[in-house]
Amino acid sequence: MNPNWGAHINERIETILKNNQWRQTVAVDNDNYLVFASNDYLGLKSHPKVIESVCKAIANEMGTGGSRLITGSRQLHRDLEDKLADYKQQEAGLIFSSGYTANIGVISTLGTKEVTILSDELNHASIVDGCRLAKSEVLKYRHLDLEHLRSLLKDVDQTGNLSLVVTDSVFSMDGDVADINELAKMCSTYGAFLVIDDAHNVFNKHFECDPELSLIVGTLSKTFGSLGGFIVGQRNMIDLMINKSRSFIFTTGLSNADTAAAIAGVDIVMSSEGDELLEQLSCNIKYFKELMAIDSDFITPIVPIVIGSEDRALKISAKLKENHILVPAIRPPTVPKNTSRLRITLSSQHERGQLELLSSVLKDAMGRF
Ligand SMILES: Cc1ncc(COP(=O)(O)O)c(C=O)c1O
Repeated sequence: MNPNWGAHINERIETILKNNQWRQTVAVDNDNYLVFASNDYLGLKSHPKVIESVCKAIANEMGTGGSRLITGSRQLHRDLEDKLADYKQQEAGLIFSSGYTANIGVISTLGTKEVTILSDELNHASIVDGCRLAKSEVLKYRHLDLEHLRSLLKDVDQTGNLSLVVTDSVFSMDGDVADINELAKMCSTYGAFLVIDDAHNVFNKHFECDPELSLIVGTLSKTFGSLGGFIVGQRNMIDLMINKSRSFIFTTGLSNADTAAAIAGVDIVMSSEGDELLEQLSCNIKYFKELMAIDSDFITPIVPIVIGSEDRALKISAKLKENHILVPAIRPPTVPKNTSRLRITLSSQHERGQLELLSSVLKDAMGRF
């Protein structure tokens, strides 16, 4: 007899529950909770200029009603693409529906049979999925290990294949950073192409990369407070994506609301107000690390507190919640086994007193469980 679907689904659910890995969506109540888990690093998702820009843009139309190559392109898209290229000092830009679809679109387009992909072992799931869609062989290099990468680049050189190196600039679950300038140098030496997923990079506006051998993927959903993804790079690369990237071609153009929000977001980041927000964020990161006695060289808004077991991470997260502080526990399969963690993210909008409260409740909870 064929297996029964109901039993099959229930069995899978039982396994997730048994492993303390059950996940569910939670409606965030910003009024009653102090949130330390959002990617809204500069507080732009509710910035008055962002809201105003959206209201203006949707006066006559909200959605675009078609894919970008049919009826879904607007002047607003062009404006945003030019602005993003300008912001990242690149020749051209292209918007996708999300950072996730940008990564799968770029990697599956570049990853042909003549290419070998070299991917940092801790890259984001959207890169992993892009690699799965590619026709290329995929080799993982040890996290941030440039010498391991070099030895793999030498091996690929011998095969006559082209090399495609893919890395997050800031790693989303660890908050550590790749040395992009060194990676770019190494890629130039071996004629390898470098794709940089810049989703969580708030501070570093420009990398020293060979423009002909690099492409930046980003998101509009974190620093810029909107929704959507983008790529910036050489014009010929953008043209290739317009023609070949399935996650760009076969989906509806980004809504006016998301596009206008992102335009206002990028404008703010590029203004003196943006500089002040970045400075405030940097002060918050330093202060929180000081409070928690965390010694690391990286200044990124992601500060993971690795706890270990799923059960302990859940208990500490629940204790924070009792104190009206929201930091969900991040567990496998999102992070490796026995490294369940509280992924704390900081914003320019947090106040010193709030950081002090978080650190004292957190230390107390970690002592108890
Ligand atoms: C490193 C990284 N890349 C890509 C993405 C996907 O971005 P988006 O949320 O716009 O789909 C994320 C989202 O969390 C991310 O952390």
